[in-house]
Amino acid sequence: MKVNTAEFIISNSDITRCPKANMPEYAFIGRSNVGKSSLINMLTNHKGLAKISGKPGKTQLVNHFLINKEWYLVDLPGYGYAKVSKNLKSGFSKIIYSYIESRENLLNLFVLVDARHDAQQIDLNFMEWLNGKGIAFSIIFTKADKLTKRKLADNIEAYKQQMLVRWEEMPPYIISSSSSGMGQEEILNFIEETNKIVSF
Ligand code: GTP
Ligand code: MG
Repeated sequence: MKVNTAEFIISNSDITRCPKANMPEYAFIGRSNVGKSSLINMLTNHKGLAKISGKPGKTQLVNHFLINKEWYLVDLPGYGYAKVSKNLKSGFSKIIYSYIESRENLLNLFVLVDARHDAQQIDLNFMEWLNGKGIAFSIIFTKADKLTKRKLADNIEAYKQQMLVRWEEMPPYIISSSSSGMGQEEILNFIEETNKIVSF
């Protein structure tokens, strides 16, 4: 799929004010700084669309972007950022959890994990929560450019093995880099195929 248009629609802390749920929607979630906003910019070939920062905790609201006037991409705040005060932190997770549980047009959640690191407990817990709720998700490994080919392959294999301790099979996954554009086609194709299955 080609991205012809990508428009920022609205930022919300109140999920009841999200756009009408009348088009397919895909959201990006994961630890702070994992590269959610960068990936949205890479997918849409639009550098300044989602706000990026070297400091964790940049995205603090639910941000809707309309793509090709046909479907939504959603940039979510990161979880697991210890320096955000406790109150604010529970506010963030409240937004995230209520968004995920209530958004009826959300067709798939992309859970981003940094390809450089071992499976983190916070991500594993989150995926188990999704599974328990019956929410469709896939994993996107980010920042692949920061590893050699060999190390990348080893890390993905190690991640799979860690997942298989608790899971019967590895959930679907895609390897990406916002710097090199790796994964762009695969993610957009996945979205295109999913869009075909559902009618609104
Ligand atoms: P929060 O909004 O704080 O939760 O972070 P985020 O997950 O949206 O991360 P963001 O896209 O803001 O990126 C965090 C940092 O990682 C920035 O400095 C990015 O430039 C860098 N980064 C993101 N993706 C990649 C990547 O694929 N490769 C490399 N080398 N750097 C990346
Ligand atoms: Mg962000």
